[in-house]
Amino acid sequence: MSTEALTFACNEKDLADGENLRLEAEGGIAVYRVDGEFYATSDSCSHEKWSLGEEGELEGHEVLCTLHMARFDVRTGAPLCFPAVIALKKYRTVVTDGRVYIAPNND
Ligand code: FES
Repeated sequence: MSTEALTFACNEKDLADGENLRLEAEGGIAVYRVDGEFYATSDSCSHEKWSLGEEGELEGHEVLCTLHMARFDVRTGAPLCFPAVIALKKYRTVVTDGRVYIAPNND
């Protein structure tokens, strides 16, 4: 698969299950690993600006924003409780040759 249009996120082995990280690309993208799968959303909490990739706590498929305790489903970006009511942008991830990439968002 060509990786030309993709944004490199990390090596597969460098993000353990239950961990997340922040990329600078596209104004900030949070990448999560849950049960061996990689997910990606916009990094900034949709309530106020707070990094989910750096400060969020991943619990299963939910990321907790540690500023005011909103939760999001990392599979869809959907908010799961107040004070967040707006979904995060969702990105598709591609894993190839042990490397994790973010696909361009064509919304
Ligand atoms: S900034 Fe995330 S819940 Fe307020």
